[in-house]
Amino acid sequence: MIVVVTGTPGTGKSTLAKAISEEFSLKLISVSSLVIERKLYFDYDQLRKSYVMDEERLKNVLREEIKGGAVVETIYPSVVENPDKVILLRKDPRVLYQELLKRGWSELKSAENAMAEAIGYVASEAWETFKDVCEIDVTDKSIEETKRISMNCDSQKVDWLTVKGIEGFLTFLDNVITRNAEH
Ligand SMILES: Nc1ncnc2c1ncn2[C@@H]1O[C@H](COP(=O)(O)OP(=O)(O)OP(=O)(O)O)[C@@H](O)[C@H]1O
Ligand SMILES: [Mg+2]
Repeated sequence: MIVVVTGTPGTGKSTLAKAISEEFSLKLISVSSLVIERKLYFDYDQLRKSYVMDEERLKNVLREEIKGGAVVETIYPSVVENPDKVILLRKDPRVLYQELLKRGWSELKSAENAMAEAIGYVASEAWETFKDVCEIDVTDKSIEETKRISMNCDSQKVDWLTVKGIEGFLTFLDNVITRNAEH
């Protein structure tokens, strides 16, 4: 069985992927760790403190790594070929922004990721790549509850842009991004 756990940074991928891999005795693969360990990147983005990955090489390495089953956690769901299950985690961008700042991430990186979650960047990649996606809003859920829902795959569609009062927060994020990206 190949399970993909995807979502914007900070949505809980590592936590859920570890729990699933333990429950089903599946190999746990973190794509970001794999990219760094195998040097599957071209460049390092100093401003954002992140790597620019080599997608083709990554796909080739992953194809080998997932043979025999695995839980793969990634912010790029399309790099995994023919998974049996795709779990997409969503978190209220307002909550996510605060949590990312608390991790010690810069205002720019936190705001860009909160914005990506707000517009559903990872979610569109997941829905465009796979026909069956188990989408879960984890904002008010415990880790146990998320795990239980992911097993049953009671899918829900999440669209933060339709949430009342979100416009003000998006304007705020926009200002943070513009202010920090100028330098
Ligand atoms: N199901 C959940 N519901 C609510 N909060 C969760 C859930 N799972 C994890 N969290 C919390 O969210 C935070 C981020 O979790 P985690 O590190 O697993 O995210 P991640 O998606 O792997 O992030 P990254 O992409 O940066 O590695 C942690 O503080 C964790 O305790
Ligand atoms: Mg993680």
